[in-house]
Amino acid sequence: MNNSLNGKHIVLGISGGIAAYKSAFLLRLLVKKGAEVQVVITPNGKEFITPATLAALSGKPVVSEFFAANTGEWHSHVDLGLWADLMIVAPATASTIGKMANGIADNMLITTYLSAKEQVIVAPAMDLDMWAHPSTRRNVETLKKDGVIIVEPQSGFLASGLTGKGRMEEPEAIVEAAETYFEEIERCNRDLKGRRIVISAGPTYENIDPVRFIGNYSSGKMGFALANECYRRGADVTVVAGPVDRTLTLDAGIRRIDVVSATEMLEAMKEEFAISDIAVMAAAVADYTPAEPLDRKIKREHTDDLVLRLVKNPDIAAELGKEKGERLLIGFALETDNEFENALGKMKRKNLDMIVLNSLRDKGAGMMTDTNKVTIFTSDGKERRYPLKSKKEVASDIADAISTLLVR
Ligand code: C5P
Repeated sequence: MNNSLNGKHIVLGISGGIAAYKSAFLLRLLVKKGAEVQVVITPNGKEFITPATLAALSGKPVVSEFFAANTGEWHSHVDLGLWADLMIVAPATASTIGKMANGIADNMLITTYLSAKEQVIVAPAMDLDMWAHPSTRRNVETLKKDGVIIVEPQSGFLASGLTGKGRMEEPEAIVEAAETYFEEIERCNRDLKGRRIVISAGPTYENIDPVRFIGNYSSGKMGFALANECYRRGADVTVVAGPVDRTLTLDAGIRRIDVVSATEMLEAMKEEFAISDIAVMAAAVADYTPAEPLDRKIKREHTDDLVLRLVKNPDIAAELGKEKGERLLIGFALETDNEFENALGKMKRKNLDMIVLNSLRDKGAGMMTDTNKVTIFTSDGKERRYPLKSKKEVASDIADAISTLLVR
């Protein structure tokens, strides 16, 4: 089996519990697996295990104070937080858990936690009654909500004679939690590796005259979230973006082609699809465009009423569908009624391999929102229904579904 800890940067946070002695074993195991470990210890932690032992095992000076005692050098928790691929807090006392949950940054361990950009794993260790206390329960729940992985402590006897949990899990089990985390990331990173994906996003603007247009409320959030997700899973990603929300960003490394109208989007999509394996049509393309866009501003004095004649825009998805061959084509359907029939009809008509349905009937779904509620249909007849989620999580579900189509 490949070793997922090899070369990883790990911050090991140690707080003041009896179990701190086990941290030396944990540290040794991590180093043995090839991880680079920086120890951060709380002032109380030093009462239980000496920094000298930890420095010898990790091969790095232990960080504890905001300033190094001998040189006065400033220890940057922000740099440490950025450096880390993972932070493990073991043992985590009730006090440290409480401070983490509430952002009480009065020592280096907590400031580093608050600066950590990547995953955090916490191995609690405390008296069984403390672990069972409602205050601890609340703080642990808060940490879980914040995305922290908790390595549940082991069982033992409470002072009351009942059994309960509290003893820190063995170092081997904590290492396993770290390995599982990295394996999961690698799995996600791998599944779109070597695939070239083009994604359309946002609305299109169809010019009426030089200062007016027909548009729609699409923000581009779903398409951009999907682009970032696919990129993180190893795909080579190009986004063909209509006039999207200006605050949206793409990960560095994703190509972006800006277009305005449906015709421009069609050109860009055709060109990109020719050199891609997958196209996702997440854009809300205008179905109609002014028949005769004017090159001068329409004047108010012009007439009393104004009739705007519209002509049909090309259906980009359907155009790509005609030439798709072995490639995958994924579309979206935003429906207000007869959702399922309409979505399935579109999948067939446009020759799609998958369609993502969001219904405007569902609160929090569709355009402009940060959340979405979707059903994914694939051409093999499978149907996956999901609850309301953030667009980032929906992007991950869509990428999972694309991934299953690829291995089919
Ligand atoms: O037919 P309808 O517009 O509802 O189909 C939606 C799907 O088709 C979306 O994936 C959308 O991006 C795509 N589409 C397109 N070109 C159009 C209209 C829609 O590619 N002109």
